Amino acid sequence: MSFDPRARHEELCLLLNHYRWEYYVLDAPTIPDADFDALMGELEKLEKDHPEFVTPDSPTQVVGPGADRSFTEVNHPSPMLSLDNAFSMDEVRAWSNRMVSLAGADALAASGYMCEMKIDGVAIDLVYVDGILLRGATRGNGRVGEDVTANIGTINQIPHRLAQPMPGTLEVRGEVFMELAGFNELNDSLIDEGKKPFANPRNAAAGSIRLKDPAVSAARPLSFLCHGIGVSKTEISSLSGAYDILKACGLPTSDRALRVDTFEEVMAYIADLGVQRHLLSHEIDGAVVKIDRISLQKDLGFTVRAPRWAIAYKFPPVEVTTKLLDIRVGVGRTGRVTPYAVMEPVKVAGSTVEMATLHNGSEVVRKGVLIGDTVIIRKAGDVIPEVLGPVLQDRTGSERAFVMPTLCPQCGTELAYEKQGDADLRCPNRRSCPAQLRERLIHISSRQGLDIEGLGEKAVDAIVAQHLVTDESDLFNLNAQMLITCPLFQKQEKGSDTPALSKNAEKLLEQLQAAKTKSFDRYLVALNIRHIGKGVAPVLASHYTTIDDLASATAEELSQIDGIGPTLAASITSWFAIDWHRAIIEKWKACGAMTQTKTPVIEMKQTLTGKTIVVTGSVPGYTRDGASEAIIARGGKSASSVSKNTHVVVAGEGAGSKLDKAISLSVPVLDSSLFGYLLDHGVELALGEASG
Ligand code: IVH
Repeated sequence: MSFDPRARHEELCLLLNHYRWEYYVLDAPTIPDADFDALMGELEKLEKDHPEFVTPDSPTQVVGPGADRSFTEVNHPSPMLSLDNAFSMDEVRAWSNRMVSLAGADALAASGYMCEMKIDGVAIDLVYVDGILLRGATRGNGRVGEDVTANIGTINQIPHRLAQPMPGTLEVRGEVFMELAGFNELNDSLIDEGKKPFANPRNAAAGSIRLKDPAVSAARPLSFLCHGIGVSKTEISSLSGAYDILKACGLPTSDRALRVDTFEEVMAYIADLGVQRHLLSHEIDGAVVKIDRISLQKDLGFTVRAPRWAIAYKFPPVEVTTKLLDIRVGVGRTGRVTPYAVMEPVKVAGSTVEMATLHNGSEVVRKGVLIGDTVIIRKAGDVIPEVLGPVLQDRTGSERAFVMPTLCPQCGTELAYEKQGDADLRCPNRRSCPAQLRERLIHISSRQGLDIEGLGEKAVDAIVAQHLVTDESDLFNLNAQMLITCPLFQKQEKGSDTPALSKNAEKLLEQLQAAKTKSFDRYLVALNIRHIGKGVAPVLASHYTTIDDLASATAEELSQIDGIGPTLAASITSWFAIDWHRAIIEKWKACGAMTQTKTPVIEMKQTLTGKTIVVTGSVPGYTRDGASEAIIARGGKSASSVSKNTHVVVAGEGAGSKLDKAISLSVPVLDSSLFGYLLDHGVELALGEASG
């Protein structure tokens, strides 16, 4: 194998950073100083020969353990793909038949199949260099994930040093998950501490690996099982062989993974797993079947979504019945009034369900449910639970129909439809309906907004309940005297009857102060202008020097900007037309907030000009609106239905009929893991990348 100086440079940087971390942070070096110096010497020599490799964060340029790497973005050595799904045994058989026709029956028989559990957790990429764990990262968009090494390193089953020599880079893929017993214990203790429990073990695992304090992660009952290999220097001829190697290295592999010769055995494995699934100590949402021989995997290659050589069989959704205790209504950020079902808590697919949205008044009528009914609810994997309908034979006559309120349950304002034909009723008291104000404040403090950690849901609830703000314009006027009136922000000092300001409140005040200088684009997100999220805000912030310039722009001017279509332009001008909206800006400015002006953002590259794109299913890292915004911001059109004129359909987990339509119309389909690539490089290159 030829020497690749760039790859060796990367390895050396990772290794040296790791040893420094062991030395400085853990106080537990694992190599002698002389070995460290030798590696450093090698790096220095390499950088002397290749000065273009030197980066400001190279171990030759920084002293000490280096910056805190947690949650920084990292490129995966090889892309982390998704899996195609089959929802029936017939679909698994169709997949197997496809394999036979592509590879030939003999090659398939010689390879055999690897059958595994589909663990319901979080995919993680581990990078070992020369047998040492250097990085753990989340899947992210498949190419770029988040560095969660500090937290992953606390999982006992993940060795920091492999039990046998593995020279060079070895990329191990697997799932971090939480066993049910540990999950229930964790939720019990969260409830005891007055905190919100996790909805399911998968969320608990995902939340635990993204905690800021690795010591807290360490206390979380996380497990890990390998399910694949990425980059590797060792010759590997089969997946079953790879698992043997990983096991010998001390990595956890599943006892339930089974290599079989025939498709009949695959069917038997899936059937058996279906029976066993509820007896397992953790949640699974299906089985994964993979072609065992690596050379055959390579021949079969990848489709736009996933490898051709693997299929995930998803168990049918679980349906259970429970009592519909009540139908209540919630009020969202934009005043939308949504009825939701309150049910007797019931376990479905591993988690307890007690609420489910009913979307709007006509949905309640369509489903035909009455309060007091026994209802059938369904939940597939981590999909949101859904009320399917009533069990009519269980009706006693004491049930009553739900009546959509005419007044807002939060502020008493008369509800109205925004325009004719709308399905959703809204509360028109936009400015001071406490429910809407609450949601807007939460949005302001969110990560995309001003990122004010101390202003979480509880803090917002306390501030709104105590009427400390009339609307968000008062946010920066909050002070110690005001906060101390809320029990949440009080602490009892020894020997004093009067409460003092809690540490959290002090932190909140500091963070509010710090938020004043956050960038212009973050402020644009924080204003809660419809359709203006983290995708479009930087475009606006790079075009207008100040908020006043933006406020005086006409819809026509705005639509001239690449990435701002008529809908966005209208949304912006109509927002600024409202007096109390403009007052928010004036009051914030008077407090010294919104001081940053034009963001030195390079204009968004217009990679998607003239392209119509449809997104179906989930796109990692983006909300539905966020994905549309990102497309629009790059000059593309984000459409909601597929036609012959669609240039590409981006399909992610949960993709539905739009994907079928794309296939039937021969519209190219791109896996959602390539969405970031599509945004950066345009349709042609992304499709090239997908087939390459
Ligand atoms: S293989 C290229 N095997 O399911 C192959 N994935 O829906 C990619 N998962 O992102 C993955 N159990 O997080 C594989 N035995 C298993 C799995 C598994 C769970 C997850 C994994 C992946 C997702 C795709």
